Amino acid sequence: MASVTNSSSSSKERVPFIAGNWKMNLDHLQSIAFVQKLAWTLGDARVDFGGVEVAVFPPFTDLRSVQTLVNADDLPLAFGGQDVSAFDSGAYTGEISAAFLKALDATYVIVGHSERRMYHGETDEQIAAKVAAAHRFDVIPIICVGETADDLEQHGPSAVPVGQLRTALGGAARGKPIVVAYEPVWAIGSGQPATSAQAQQVATALRSTVGEALGDEAAAATRILYGGSVKAGNIAGFMAEPDVDGALVGGASLQLDEFASIVRFQKHIVA
Ligand code: PGA
Repeated sequence: MASVTNSSSSSKERVPFIAGNWKMNLDHLQSIAFVQKLAWTLGDARVDFGGVEVAVFPPFTDLRSVQTLVNADDLPLAFGGQDVSAFDSGAYTGEISAAFLKALDATYVIVGHSERRMYHGETDEQIAAKVAAAHRFDVIPIICVGETADDLEQHGPSAVPVGQLRTALGGAARGKPIVVAYEPVWAIGSGQPATSAQAQQVATALRSTVGEALGDEAAAATRILYGGSVKAGNIAGFMAEPDVDGALVGGASLQLDEFASIVRFQKHIVA
């Protein structure tokens, strides 16, 4: 494990990743307008897309429109789905196959978001099956893990997210990329983010977990995001941590200027 710790704390070679999860907001027309304006705003700000990757996660009904716009205008933005079926095809009314996401050029898919766990009863085993489904079609899963306030009190900071990740990685194919998002449930939408030190502590444990499951090389290459009340005012602190490689942004990703400012975290001065 020592090599994992060393590689994670060296100057970051992983390209920072800012991902906007729009949750159940914006229809396809609103998404088109937003993506267009986001691209203009980032272009005007001369964002160096070699130094930061930006992705948006619209509702399923918007994906085709976003794909058409991104491809037609050759926008430097990635996109993905907010969820995926564990099944590839068949009689699963309402489900969306990873094959369909791939057919729309989706690079990523979010799996195991705490809202899916909470409101749809998703288990770690189902999330592992979704990771496997994404990998079967070369869509990169963004595996979300995080503890509730009760978990934190009872089990400490890393135990629950590490356990969730360990099971989810049971579905991962060796050699295929993953992204991990540490999102404490108590920080999501609450306006009370974790401290950057808390995020770093859990991110280190998650990186070790990736190493145990997929090997040291995967651990060093995997981007670990922090999510939960990320704003323009706190992003730079998170990004300064050696094991935090980006952010999964919810509410603030719907505010154009705020999101654009988060993307430009490298220009912020950390106090
Ligand atoms: P938030 O949501 O930024 O609104 O806290 C984060 C998320 O749910 O991914």
